[in-house]
Amino acid sequence: MRTLAGKKILLGISGGIAAYKCAELTRRLIERGAQVQVVMTKAAKEFITPLTMQAVSGRPVSDSLLDPAAEASMGHIELAKWADLVLLAPATADLIARMSAGMGNDLLSTLVLATDAPVAVSPAMNQQMYLNVATQENIATLSRRNMMIWGPAAGEQACGDVGPGRMLEPMQLVEKCEQFFGPKLLAGKSVVITAGPTREAIDPVRYISNHSSGKMGFALAQAAQQLGADVTLISGPVTLPTPNGVKRINVVSAEEMHQAALANATCHDIFIGCAAVADYRPLDIATQKIKKTADKDDMQITMVKNPDIIASVASLLESRPFTVGFAAETQDVEAYALDKLQRKNLDMICANDVSIAGQGFNSDSNAITVYWQGGSKSLGNAMKTELSHAIWETISEQIA
Ligand code: C5P
Repeated sequence: MRTLAGKKILLGISGGIAAYKCAELTRRLIERGAQVQVVMTKAAKEFITPLTMQAVSGRPVSDSLLDPAAEASMGHIELAKWADLVLLAPATADLIARMSAGMGNDLLSTLVLATDAPVAVSPAMNQQMYLNVATQENIATLSRRNMMIWGPAAGEQACGDVGPGRMLEPMQLVEKCEQFFGPKLLAGKSVVITAGPTREAIDPVRYISNHSSGKMGFALAQAAQQLGADVTLISGPVTLPTPNGVKRINVVSAEEMHQAALANATCHDIFIGCAAVADYRPLDIATQKIKKTADKDDMQITMVKNPDIIASVASLLESRPFTVGFAAETQDVEAYALDKLQRKNLDMICANDVSIAGQGFNSDSNAITVYWQGGSKSLGNAMKTELSHAIWETISEQIA
């Protein structure tokens, strides 16, 4: 029962109605052996009193950056260093925006800047505020900076709306903390992931490529790293930062990605082909820039097939990793995905419909169904960061 024995959790509460659940959350964390230091924003104190939080946590609440008495006992830098985990629950749209902008205009946001402890963000707000593109971009920014995003749940809201934005229930947050401090799902596993598009040169200044942003592959790499895996990410040209702790190999063309994949596949347990590899490349790459001609209105480029990277990994006879592909389709998603699973000899395939607006290529969210021999699981529509955790859980169940 004392699953969190000795763990130091800094609970940052910002001003949302879900703050009333923080007393229960604190009780449950302490019951499991955690030490909980509560930090409240000014607005949070409108929803639950510092006296309540002091009583349940057994520690005075910290709420001011400029209080000489508080600074003399445990100053803000000391507090930031004390924590094993910073849990922001509820995290309002305002707190998320301030963190995304890197602001330090109160004690809580300053602590987030000053800590090197992992930070978990549990968003809670009205569904329209949550779905607002600014909030979505801010959450994506925090996620890229390696903060863990826990929730939100969807359902009926305090304001009467129905939709996503409910803070996870206290016991769900406790479970997340237990998972975080417990043995990691991918501990001892090594994974290699391909991500992004490839570029197939036509001449020194032109190429053929596609709209892949690399977001899904990068989210998978980040999640695997957080789940304890040793991660190698083979990336085509994208503008995304490398997730913390991930080894990145940059490639440009499908042939380069093929070489990097084969060089790495056999020394890893799991291979995920998330890259949108160009199926064909120009047969000849002109050594000089191709010029427009006055006498011809058309131009032909002869294309040759690129190697199928994932199929070559899946056909390895020795030290073959568990191989997972992606199928981005615009129609007959299930049929095409199952066909690819068989034809490429994959262990699993994650299929999504990229014809639906706001989903798939270049977007922050996705809807995925995972298929394997004799089974399937719909992972629903969610942020790519959330989905990637669900994909790793599904893979872990299959390799167990
Ligand atoms: O055949 P299709 O491109 O739709 O298959 C998608 C899956 O195959 C993805 O996992 C993708 O990364 C992989 N693939 C590959 N090499 C190719 C083409 C696709 O690894 N040349």
